[in-house]
Amino acid sequence: MNRNLGFNLARVTEAAALSGAKHLGRGDKNAADGAAVDAMRRMFDTININGRVVIGEGEMDEAPMLYIGEQIGLQGPDDERVDIAVDPIDGTTAIANGMNNAISVVAIAPEGCLLNAPDVYMNKIACGPKAKGHIDLNKSPKENIENVAKALGKKPSEITVSLLKRDRHKALIEEIRAAGARIKMISDGDIVTAISTCFDHSGVDMIMGIGGAPEGVVAAAALKCLGGDFQGRFVHYTDQQKKRIDDFGTDENKIFHIDDLVKGEEVLFAATGVSTGELLKGVDYLENNKATTQSLVLRLPSGTVRFIDSLHKLDKKPDYAQ
Ligand code: FBP
Repeated sequence: MNRNLGFNLARVTEAAALSGAKHLGRGDKNAADGAAVDAMRRMFDTININGRVVIGEGEMDEAPMLYIGEQIGLQGPDDERVDIAVDPIDGTTAIANGMNNAISVVAIAPEGCLLNAPDVYMNKIACGPKAKGHIDLNKSPKENIENVAKALGKKPSEITVSLLKRDRHKALIEEIRAAGARIKMISDGDIVTAISTCFDHSGVDMIMGIGGAPEGVVAAAALKCLGGDFQGRFVHYTDQQKKRIDDFGTDENKIFHIDDLVKGEEVLFAATGVSTGELLKGVDYLENNKATTQSLVLRLPSGTVRFIDSLHKLDKKPDYAQ
């Protein structure tokens, strides 16, 4: 894939973040998501790709834009055919409630390389590059913590596991505590938290627990670029989710490894902070209709990691942040 596409992807997530962040704390997650989707969709229309959404806002009948299967990009005859995973805001509830850790995110890979995961839950485990190869969803939380601790040259009591604060994690929390590890709870946004395992300064060594399956694929794309590790297994709570897994043609015991979720060695990933979190600053609106954003752009095969701080003059970008 053309390496300059990475910058265009940052434009896409910046646009979504600038529009979505206007809704911080305003109690309306659909309005926040709608604004981000609109802005993202418009920006995609300026990019030279022939893209197909594989992870998006839902099926065609439930999402007017960025629905699964939608063709996006300029789609010129020479434009590359790519799979696209989007999450215009991961953390819509966080934005509506004025909380941190929400990002806007996009990943692309050559056609056929991103798993078109159904909209169900996923039991996840992830870690950064130093512990790669030392996580296994078939093992207990205690064994995983001990193995990651060993790989990182730490004691289990020095390992920090991050997970979503959800009732479903009650037993897992007890197991992590019994293993002696530290726990960092997040209210929402397990994509950015999975990515943070790859950055020492985040203080997060691994993530565990159940979150969205589509978010798992997006996180895996970033972790693959960063040399981290990820495993996931579909989980259902409703009959409808069970049907989605059955229709997908897999059984719930299957463990998806990082290379099953994101095939090949070519990936581009961009995320922009909507509200401030461990890894990225959120949007700040400044005087005279200006705003700042911070984005992370990743690329395989080069493995380059870019943090991009941008100052936007919103007068000159009338489509943003209405
Ligand atoms: P949304 O922005 O789509 O609400 O997703 C936020 C999120 O926290 C994800 O990061 C996470 O994977 C998922 O929700 C967890 O789902 P739930 O809130 O149902 O536990």
